[in-house]
Amino acid sequence: MVKVQICVGSHCSLVGALNILETLENLKEDYPEQIKIERVKCMDRCGDIKNAPVVKVDDELLTSAQNQVVISKVMERVE
Ligand code: FES
Repeated sequence: MVKVQICVGSHCSLVGALNILETLENLKEDYPEQIKIERVKCMDRCGDIKNAPVVKVDDELLTSAQNQVVISKVMERVE
């Protein structure tokens, strides 16, 4: 089971968190038992907007997260 925490706070949402969330939810349809998605309101990393969006894959914190990076981190753990 991979736990993905995605920040859906205002800063992160402004810079693409919801796109990442949508991609993750689509991926979860293929791996319903292996991926757990948790929405978080703020991970306190957005004092510098360059850090947003913020995603945590298990214990690994990703700042300035991009879809492809998040998906590949998740898939590394699913497979
Ligand atoms: S809104 Fe995402 S870390 Fe603060």
